[in-house]
Amino acid sequence: MALVTSKEMFEKAYKGKYAIGAFNINNMEIVQGVMRGAKAKNSAIIMQCSKSALNYAGPKCLLGMVEALIDETGVDVALHLDHGPDLETVKVCVENGFTSVMFDGSHFDYEENVAKTKEVVDYAHAHGVVVEAELGKLAGVEDDVNVDAAHATYTDPDQAVDFVSKTGVDSLAIAIGTSHGAYKFKGEAKLDFDRLALITSKLEDAGFKNYPIVLHGASSVDPAVIELCNKYGGQIKGASGIPVEMLRKAAGMAVCKINMDTDIRLAMTAGIRKSFAEKPDAFDPRGYLGVARDMVQELVEYKIEKVLGSVDSMK
Ligand code: G3H
Ligand code: 13P
Ligand code: ZN
Repeated sequence: MALVTSKEMFEKAYKGKYAIGAFNINNMEIVQGVMRGAKAKNSAIIMQCSKSALNYAGPKCLLGMVEALIDETGVDVALHLDHGPDLETVKVCVENGFTSVMFDGSHFDYEENVAKTKEVVDYAHAHGVVVEAELGKLAGVEDDVNVDAAHATYTDPDQAVDFVSKTGVDSLAIAIGTSHGAYKFKGEAKLDFDRLALITSKLEDAGFKNYPIVLHGASSVDPAVIELCNKYGGQIKGASGIPVEMLRKAAGMAVCKINMDTDIRLAMTAGIRKSFAEKPDAFDPRGYLGVARDMVQELVEYKIEKVLGSVDSMK
């Protein structure tokens, strides 16, 4: 068993109206928790590492853990660079065996994003690696934000077609109202599904049939987990995420990859806080990290079943 790219995963997900979960990893307990969750649900998954995760754990260590667990479980996994800032980081990941990379040029102006993304695509494709890029800027949408100002950062559908045509990128992360972190909405949660549908239909009209769209900032920030953190000494106030039904709706549309990191962080924190509070005399890290790992597995199983719909996608 070896790492795979996300190409076939996305083809199947698009047709099956589900999405593949992309979980951020940066230590052994997360890797094991995610893999065990995927194995339990017979689901393909993407494990992704940010630049700071690479700095924290090292690409070789992350790759080694993922490969060891593929051998152990037989799960289909793509190993992906999340929010790659430059070609240099992309090269480090490709040289270390990653099968997928993201180049995030969303903060550059449009022409620069196109040029830099194209450079990454040319390099990665020559090495058999697929590329995700981002167009539009993710931001939290607040009820009192002027709609035009909010939409100014959303992905423009015509530009999306032009971007995909010019860069040859394999999947596109879009901005339709999601945002990173634990504080996504002050008022009611809103995603621009009309924009998602328009991007998809315009891509289709331009010859990009079943083109995979990626949703970043897609943690749901479960109030029960926040409550657990706060019950055991946490002080997380005003957190909110993307409702599960909205993510299900997106997965039934063109969204083939849903990114979640914050929910893993919160689940682990809740587990560790509870463990410390309940066993103040304990000091074996395997105790509280084992609890955290179980929380990750439980979370991943829930996501696969209720959010992504990718149960049995390994068949
Ligand atoms: O989108 C960003 C991910 O949540 C990774 O965050 O850079 O703190 O590892 P990080
Ligand atoms: P969350 O912060 O919503 O988990 O998003 C993670 C993400 O998009 C990683 O790229
Ligand atoms: Zn992201």
